[in-house]
Amino acid sequence: MKILVTGGAGFIGSHTCLALLERGHEVIVIDSYVNSNSQSLQRVVELLNSNNLNRSTGIETCSADLRDEKVLDQLFSAHEKLGKSIEAVIHFAGLKSVNDSVHNPLKYWDVNVGSSINLLSVMNRYNCRTIVFSSSATIYGFSNNKPIKENTLIKPINPYGTTKVAIEQLLNDLYNSQPDKWRIANLRYFNPIGAHHSGMLGEAPIGVPSNIFPYITQVAAGVRDEFTIFGNDWPTKDGTGVRDYIHVMDLAEGHVLALEYLVNNQNQIINLNLGTGKGTSVLELLNTFKRVNNINIPLRFSSRREGDCGSVVADNSLAALCLEWTPERSLEQMCIDGWKWQSLNPKGYI
Ligand code: NAD
Ligand code: WQD
Repeated sequence: MKILVTGGAGFIGSHTCLALLERGHEVIVIDSYVNSNSQSLQRVVELLNSNNLNRSTGIETCSADLRDEKVLDQLFSAHEKLGKSIEAVIHFAGLKSVNDSVHNPLKYWDVNVGSSINLLSVMNRYNCRTIVFSSSATIYGFSNNKPIKENTLIKPINPYGTTKVAIEQLLNDLYNSQPDKWRIANLRYFNPIGAHHSGMLGEAPIGVPSNIFPYITQVAAGVRDEFTIFGNDWPTKDGTGVRDYIHVMDLAEGHVLALEYLVNNQNQIINLNLGTGKGTSVLELLNTFKRVNNINIPLRFSSRREGDCGSVVADNSLAALCLEWTPERSLEQMCIDGWKWQSLNPKGYI
């Protein structure tokens, strides 16, 4: 299939582009590079070449902001004129910092929701009505320490989460307006970490990382002095926060399967949790990272981070059933691959 990947140069997008190309799909990326580097896509092509998997001519890229509807229209039009239209979209593009969204809600509504409205308008215009959307576990209300199912109460507590709910709602409205035309999957990711096992692709945050894993790898690399654990008084196995960490390549493969599921089944809109179903505490993650990489991480404890909750773990049974998808890579593998990426690319993609 010919697939448009928005935000394809980013962390999850670049790994998904690789998985799509390895599966024989044709990939077009549109990205503004506001939080990424085009080098990631060159690395994807290098990986394909090194594996003798260069079944395609590479990746077509379009450097543009999705809020520019004209560029999007031209992109769809150009492919239609070539006789092979864009058949589906995987929509990663957006801003993702919870803290930034609290201080700049207008920016988040403009970029995340505004971009999605443009994209969906153009898709509709060109009869491209299959989309896989990057949603997030952040949309759920508190979980009472039970694995979260897709029908758990939706109650985001920050503007970033609110924009994800708004886009899901928009997709629902669109589906209901033409149920015989749209095929939509809202993939709700839990906590993606790790990197491609080659060390060629990984997460390259700009500035101080707000998520746990890049922070740990940067402390391990000596870029930052110590790691701070936010709270040791949560009602969890060891008092530290529990999350469902998923290897980014398992997540990437989930996208390929979700797309193929949509195409091969009746028209529908479906919400799917992509997580492993296993809860890992901050201390367990740190200890695993230290053990498998034989490296020390200086740490200290502080009070709880505002807006945090104790435990967030997926019930992934619906995704497992529908997509025939099982996340295969262990926590150990996530830590080994993530450290390999950090040590081979201390400054990210440069
Ligand atoms: P990322 O920042 O690495 O990737 C997002 C990409 O979108 C970047 O390449 C960025 O340059 C691009 N982009 C942003 N705004 C754009 C615009 N207006 N036009 C064109 N390109 C634009 O983030 P990621 O971690 O790969 O996340 C991908 C998606 O998954 C995001 O929508 C994010 O909200 C969602 N998500 C991420 C996580 C996570 O923990 N990483 C968890 C749940 C959901
Ligand atoms: C994980 C655990 C922290 C940093 C966020 C977003 C969510 C989603 C994924 C996009 C928690 C602890 C962290 C540190 C720590 N993103 N921690 N010290 O909060 O589960 O989710 O990223 O959709 O929307 O909210 O992930 O990596 O920030 O934290 O102790 O320096 O690590 O308290 O228990 P979170 P995280």
